[in-house]
Amino acid sequence: MEKVTLITGASGGLGKEFAYLAANDKQNLFLIARSADKLNKIKKDIEKNYGVKVYVLDGDLSNEKVRLEIEKFAKKNDLFVNKLINNAGFGTRGDFTTVPYENHENLMDLNNKALVHLTYMFLPKMLKEHDGKILNIASIASYLPGPHMVMYFASKAFVSNFSNGLMKECKKQGVTVTALYPSPTNTGFLARSHMNEKLFKNAPSAKFVATKGYKGMMKGKMKVNPGAYPKFVNFFSKIVPVGIAGNIVEKQN
Ligand SMILES: NC(=O)c1ccc[n+]([C@@H]2O[C@H](COP(=O)([O-])OP(=O)(O)OC[C@H]3O[C@@H](n4cnc5c(N)ncnc54)[C@H](OP(=O)(O)O)[C@@H]3O)[C@@H](O)[C@H]2O)c1
Repeated sequence: MEKVTLITGASGGLGKEFAYLAANDKQNLFLIARSADKLNKIKKDIEKNYGVKVYVLDGDLSNEKVRLEIEKFAKKNDLFVNKLINNAGFGTRGDFTTVPYENHENLMDLNNKALVHLTYMFLPKMLKEHDGKILNIASIASYLPGPHMVMYFASKAFVSNFSNGLMKECKKQGVTVTALYPSPTNTGFLARSHMNEKLFKNAPSAKFVATKGYKGMMKGKMKVNPGAYPKFVNFFSKIVPVGIAGNIVEKQN
């Protein structure tokens, strides 16, 4: 049985940074994303320069069949996923009824269903072995109502609540669940999610945010707000009425 760190959305952005951070800690990796070419390039580079084994599987995580393939692959190769980084995710911008329903479904399938499904697949073994760390990528959007991006904000509120509750269930059994709450960060996310570019002015690097998240996971923290801005938003959301918070977000989205 070989221990591996499974990272979703590992072909770019935060996910790729997580892969290098884990490789630097001599963890073997199991990387997932849709772009086979990018994954194979990362695999080659990491195996050459870090001396760890890298497994890759390319596929669309919003598809249940692909998720079942991941489970099969892990069983066939006798892999024990003792670290799981549920990172893949995207946003949609636009008023709720103007966005094609298919996009809403894809978002729920990737940001929530895939995260829950992979956790359900790999958590039992972690609990049995008293050996497991999970890092789920939430967002500062988890803390706020998100007019004009309601599905993304709601999906991240789900990730946050799911992670914080599961942490309480699992910690006594030696497994921790960490949620990371980035503010806008320099990755491919801006382009894919058609977000307001102004929000990304002075955005931190993917490396900075991923390092905070990775270290938080390794320490078994419940929540990681990477930087002053996420910390401020977390605090702000606790003291400002939700209607007022919604007005401010509406102007920015
Ligand atoms: N960047 C930000 O401002 C920001 C802020 C807060 C939270 N976040 C969260 O951080 C996480 C990582 O995002 P990022 O900023 O690194 O974005 P990114 O640069 O767009 O990277 C997303 C990663 O997910 C993969 N991916 C996308 N759709 C997929 C699918 N259907 N199946 C499998 N893999 C898929 C992409 O690779 P392929 O295209 O090869 O599939 C890529 O590797 C997301 O959950 C996002 O919501 C980001």
